[in-house]
Amino acid sequence: MLAIFFGTCFVTGLLSHYQYQPWAWLPEPASPVWLYRVTQGTHVITGIATLPLVLVKLWSVYPNLFRWPAVTSLKHAAERLSVFVLVASALVQLTTGFLNVLNWYAWPWDFVAVHRFLAYVLIGSILLHVGLKLPDIRYGLQARLPQADVLTETPWDQNPLAHSNAGEVPPPPTPALTRRGVLVAAGAGVGAVVVTSIGQTVAPLEPVGLLAVRQWNKGPQRVPVNTTAQQAGVQAVAVDQRWTLQVNGRTPFTVTLAELDDLARSEADLPITCVEGWSVGAHWRGIPLLDLVARAGGDAGSRVEVISLQQGSQFARSTVLGPQVSAALLATHLNGERLNLDHGYPLRLIAPNRAGVLNTKWLARIEVV
Ligand code: HEM
Repeated sequence: MLAIFFGTCFVTGLLSHYQYQPWAWLPEPASPVWLYRVTQGTHVITGIATLPLVLVKLWSVYPNLFRWPAVTSLKHAAERLSVFVLVASALVQLTTGFLNVLNWYAWPWDFVAVHRFLAYVLIGSILLHVGLKLPDIRYGLQARLPQADVLTETPWDQNPLAHSNAGEVPPPPTPALTRRGVLVAAGAGVGAVVVTSIGQTVAPLEPVGLLAVRQWNKGPQRVPVNTTAQQAGVQAVAVDQRWTLQVNGRTPFTVTLAELDDLARSEADLPITCVEGWSVGAHWRGIPLLDLVARAGGDAGSRVEVISLQQGSQFARSTVLGPQVSAALLATHLNGERLNLDHGYPLRLIAPNRAGVLNTKWLARIEVV
């Protein structure tokens, strides 16, 4: 289970990383529109579910920590070192990931960079650990383990392998959990964290979403907000009556909000999906991005830079490439209402299968390349 969960986190994490820097020759597809919603939701839920599994695994092996002598050979030293790296990176990765989605950024380092680095360390140390254990694994899979059969099928006092001294009193049963007990405890732990987290994506489970910090009913227009207009420092400029959108290309032009409103006749149901795992379906109205791109002399093959009024943030601009150029909307309305200031008023980008942070808000300029 751990291998499956860690592997799933690694693959879905890499897919999430690809959102930030897609290759021009392999841009993100525009459909299915919910693809990133599923991959990143899976990433976060699987990561959270891994926490109880890791604790069960550590509980089952912790007596090895106190074995003496601590190291018996070079191979043993390498093996213990790889286990140390594995356990340390797993614990840091899982705890910081979990705190991150709870919106508690309790460390001074850049989460994304460290999280990606640790992902490689973690997967590398798992592969090394499995590699070093291969002889044991091969033995375990091939051996018939006669002792185990004899031990379980023969009464204790008649079992020659269980004790050497005839007449010896059998030891009392150990208070350790049975195999079924371990499975039930692990299953209950995984179930509890999944059920209380998944409400950030699956609306019917929202009432039990103890760990689901961001939910559709906790934001204006039934959509959560990660960065408010105040946090982005755009409250004044975004509501300035003189606001216009500058579109640069072979034939540059500017448009006012009134002109955009006249053009805003396209509607689409597109989810807004956060890199932190929450997502919510929403109904948008606006202008197809391609209409303005074409007016500026571009076409569906253009690369489009979308730039915000926000200053000094890495998310103040984003690039739209490939199929998303034809599928994106410049939204003026959300869920039947004029876009709320915290959702990007007067104009924001919304595209299918795209991370929320890349759906740039409070647009100022568009560059058609
Ligand atoms: C509790 C567990 C976990 C949580 C809650 C979690 C959460 C996250 C979040 C929120 C992001 C998006 C970061 C951003 O772009 O702002 C992310 C990205 C990522 N995660 Fe995790 N994660 C967890 C476990 C893991 C594990 C176990 C691995 C690898 C084995 C992993 C690998 C990655 C990778 C490679 C990325 C992409 C980083 C990038 O964009 O450069 N994560 N994770």
